[in-house]
Amino acid sequence: MPRFLVLVSKPLPLDGRDPAWATLRRIAEIRIRPASTRRTLGREPRLPRADAVVTLVADRVDEEFLERAARVKVISNFAVGFNNINVTAASRRGVLVCNTPDVLTNATAELTIGLLLAAARRFKEGAELIRAARFRGLEPDLLLGAELSGARIGVIGAGRIGSAVARKAEALGMEVIAITRSRGCLEDLLRASDFVSLHCPLTAETRGLMGARQFALMKPGAVLVNTSRGELIDERALVASLRNGRLSAAALDVFCGEPRLRAELRQNPRVFVLPHLGSATHPARAGMARLALRAITDVLTGRPPSNRVI
Ligand code: DGY
Repeated sequence: MPRFLVLVSKPLPLDGRDPAWATLRRIAEIRIRPASTRRTLGREPRLPRADAVVTLVADRVDEEFLERAARVKVISNFAVGFNNINVTAASRRGVLVCNTPDVLTNATAELTIGLLLAAARRFKEGAELIRAARFRGLEPDLLLGAELSGARIGVIGAGRIGSAVARKAEALGMEVIAITRSRGCLEDLLRASDFVSLHCPLTAETRGLMGARQFALMKPGAVLVNTSRGELIDERALVASLRNGRLSAAALDVFCGEPRLRAELRQNPRVFVLPHLGSATHPARAGMARLALRAITDVLTGRPPSNRVI
């Protein structure tokens, strides 16, 4: 007879026969909210009875959430980033927080390379020509772009994903400069890079990392790519830098206030935006689901979970 109640924010892309489900089901009743639910997880009627929750980056876990989730022992975030969770408040209440690192590193790094190419080779403008049936045949100067090979990429945040991007960029013939949050000079990187790619977690220190001052230091015509969190960028400053030509393009997998994208970015032909797809591959998302479920099984059976962030 299951003893625990586990609440899952939305259906996870993991086969129902996967052992991670079966192992957890032996000790818990698992309640998965429908994909169509509009109610926030914090307002979920079953939350006060839950012993564990699987949260998504869109679920805000704040004091109010924790107050209602009085029985919860572990919050397992279906993401490597955990800026949606007030970890200090969780820790104060003795609630463990876990994430899903590593399994999504390659997927996110591959998407970053895709964004570099999308911006350099003007995918959005090309696709729009086709969509609007305005392509009149090959023209020698149609939508000319930049090449990655021989260009310099500045990787800001040389953790797991940033380092994987650096390796892939090197394999494409790019010269790489990488800095971590504590080491390396951001200003030098910005002055020297043709492409700048962001790979930092969102924290109080990194919020607004790229603002008017930083854009002004970038090489004229440089390209900005972001697959980490939208709030690293001051989007008004980004719009202005695209308008004044300091930046030639931006390719973003994440943006401020998701899912609503500001009109100036949506409408700009040189801004290519994806709906937070960094880890959206079958293997990465299944791996994330397994890690998220295992963390809960571990905590509820008294074992230390492997991906504990606090
Ligand atoms: C993460 O893991 O932090 C991504 O943003 C969501 O897949």
